[in-house]
Amino acid sequence: MKAFVVDKYNKKRMLRLAEMPVPNVGDSDVLVEVHAAGLNLLDSKIRTGEFKLILPYRRPFILGHDVAGTVIRAGSKVRKFKPGDDVYARARDGRIGAFAEFIAMDEADVALKPKNLSMEEAASIPLVGLTAWQVLVERANLRKGQKVFIQAGSGGVGTFAIQLAKHLGATVATTVSAASAGLVKGLGADVVVDYRKDDFENVLSGYDVVLNSQDAKTLEKSLNVLKPGGKLISISGPPDPEFAREKGLNLVLRTLLRLLSRGIRTKARRRGVNYSFLFMWAQGYQLSKITALIESGAIRPVLDRVFPFESTNEALAYVETGRAKGKVVVKVR
Ligand SMILES: NC(=O)c1ccc[n+]([C@@H]2O[C@H](COP(=O)([O-])OP(=O)(O)OC[C@H]3O[C@@H](n4cnc5c(N)ncnc54)[C@H](OP(=O)(O)O)[C@@H]3O)[C@@H](O)[C@H]2O)c1
Repeated sequence: MKAFVVDKYNKKRMLRLAEMPVPNVGDSDVLVEVHAAGLNLLDSKIRTGEFKLILPYRRPFILGHDVAGTVIRAGSKVRKFKPGDDVYARARDGRIGAFAEFIAMDEADVALKPKNLSMEEAASIPLVGLTAWQVLVERANLRKGQKVFIQAGSGGVGTFAIQLAKHLGATVATTVSAASAGLVKGLGADVVVDYRKDDFENVLSGYDVVLNSQDAKTLEKSLNVLKPGGKLISISGPPDPEFAREKGLNLVLRTLLRLLSRGIRTKARRRGVNYSFLFMWAQGYQLSKITALIESGAIRPVLDRVFPFESTNEALAYVETGRAKGKVVVKVR
């Protein structure tokens, strides 16, 4: 099968289009014929080697986390899916490989594709949808009437998180550049701050939750918009000791992450707010809840561009500009 592989960790090196064997199908796996694959900054960070200590892969390996396609084979212990089912998933860490014609995944990571979405639309959802779900529902326990500040509302995570927070009944503030104000208002944002003109910390206060996805300066400023007892949840770092424990990292890495996050944890504690880092995980059950929300019309995908499979490198370069409005997808078949 055709697949885009990482041969060497290198900032400048592109993915290589290679002929690779169709993956083996374990007892709990489904083999999916890939119709579309979604792209994420995580793909870039893995391509360059930025994540190699935390997520080691033996090269060459096939890149790509988000996938939509059709089950063509099911392992002997698979209970939830059968050949012919249209599904989508965020492939789990250690078993990625969505930029390919086929991918084998544990059935626990997979969910039925929302019936009202095309394959390209469905492939745009899993990683950002699960991130928003795990931050807002699982970690923050966001409730009706609470206030949440979601940074970068026009990005992949932001466009999904705004809609999920509105569905949960929260008041949503977000940052965008002026050109995207209409987009995020259309998704339900109540307070829209132009980050190129205004400083959000002068505009927002008394928030229950902040979803931080930007740099260290933004993270620190975010402390000022929270009310006492509020939660600052960062998906862009720094990772905290709890994350290091969950990942089973060695003592050196655990110490390093403790030191990296000490500053923000101390500042958060002094202000009476809670800081935590979240690294999203594959979860078919949560994704099936997202399927229901999409089919009910509560959440819709926001696609910026669809590239042909052969242009996966160009698609990744576009994601790396950091300017995409919503999601970028490659159409595989
Ligand atoms: N920990 C996890 O599990 C996890 C999961 C998903 C994502 N992430 C991380 O979260 C970050 C966001 O991911 P993403 O997929 O949403 O990114 P993305 O889709 O590439 O974000 C692009 C968007 O960000 C906006 N933007 C850029 N700088 C901004 C700023 N200073 N303030 C407000 N908006 C800004 C851009 O709007 P303009 O062009 O108008 O500026 C653009 O629309 C990335 O660092 C990613 O790696 C982490």
